[in-house]
Amino acid sequence: MPDSIVADSNPDAPVIVRPMRDDDAEAAAHLLRAAYGTPDGGAIAAAGAPDLPLTASRVRRWRQNSAAAWIAEVPGFGPVGAVFAVVESEAAWFAGLGVAPNFRGAGVGSALTDRVVDFLAASGRLVSGMEVAPTAMAAAGMYARRGFRPADLTVRLRGAVANLCERVEPNSWREVACSDLNCQTPGRKPALVARVKSQPHSSASYVLIGSNVTLLCDPDPLIPAAGGSLDLRLAVAGVPRNREVDAWIRAAARSASLRSLASLDIDLALADGVVLRRLLRLGLTPIASTIRLVSNLEAYLDWRSRNGPIGRWSF
Ligand SMILES: CC(C)(COP(=O)(O)OP(=O)(O)OC[C@H]1O[C@@H](n2cnc3c(N)ncnc32)[C@H](O)[C@@H]1OP(=O)(O)O)[C@@H](O)C(=O)NCCC(=O)NCCS
Repeated sequence: MPDSIVADSNPDAPVIVRPMRDDDAEAAAHLLRAAYGTPDGGAIAAAGAPDLPLTASRVRRWRQNSAAAWIAEVPGFGPVGAVFAVVESEAAWFAGLGVAPNFRGAGVGSALTDRVVDFLAASGRLVSGMEVAPTAMAAAGMYARRGFRPADLTVRLRGAVANLCERVEPNSWREVACSDLNCQTPGRKPALVARVKSQPHSSASYVLIGSNVTLLCDPDPLIPAAGGSLDLRLAVAGVPRNREVDAWIRAAARSASLRSLASLDIDLALADGVVLRRLLRLGLTPIASTIRLVSNLEAYLDWRSRNGPIGRWSF
């Protein structure tokens, strides 16, 4: 694959698509803030705004956690678009696609999408996709024309850590802090574990031994304490029981309170009705939703049935 390609949809404004570098972080953060600040902003805006700080450090971290990331550059103007690719053991997806508002409609978004989709296809993973805000019409149309189909509706729930700690019942499982889940999850598919392993900044994990739930708390050092959140990775074997969901929330809330985080954000597929009902009863409130689109629905559903119902898909 060449290092850069030229988008040919607007010959007057050639667009170079090239791998993102560390020193692109400032410009990429700037253009992504502009891209996602518009009314049709995509998954990042819907899921994280207004408290997701799209800083250069965050963009740098995304790039480091991604299998690949690209910048679209118009000579004379610098970076005008960006996208990130994530590859796991079976699934692959992309996130953070954004084009600066002044440069839209010139093929930049298509060039970035084609580049990342080619990359995901070459990774050989069965499932590839992304999440898009229901209001992001341009993006949804662009993906649909490239064969992506809706697979899930996801919801982001938020709860105050103090309330969650009060409401959940005491844990009946042994909690251990660990850094490597392989030895702690006998018989469990390691897809979600791989996601954590690919994150060099993960600093703490918890496993609820003896339950059907494997929980990984992945504190994000870049999110400020007030109103911050915690990245969670969860693998569930079958449908979890209420007390397993409680145990998971309890461990997550405790980990958050240890880090003085005020709130906890959880992404969940709407189809996971049992878990959703329990989380709502525990006082979590829906704050945003996204549509999960995939390139191979059959493979996605198969992956989902093998890897459990819950998991963060985008970052
Ligand atoms: C989505 C986005 C990346 C598209 O970037 P872009 O450079 O304007 O895209 P392109 O010029 O390549 O156009 C892509 C397609 O969308 C169509 N399109 C562009 N703007 C559109 C609009 N406002 N409404 C409907 N369709 C539109 C184009 O006709 C083109 O169609 P094609 O697939 O048939 O070629 C850009 O609008 C954006 O940054 N949006 C905000 C962030 C976002 O929603 N990101 C996606 C989150 S997953």
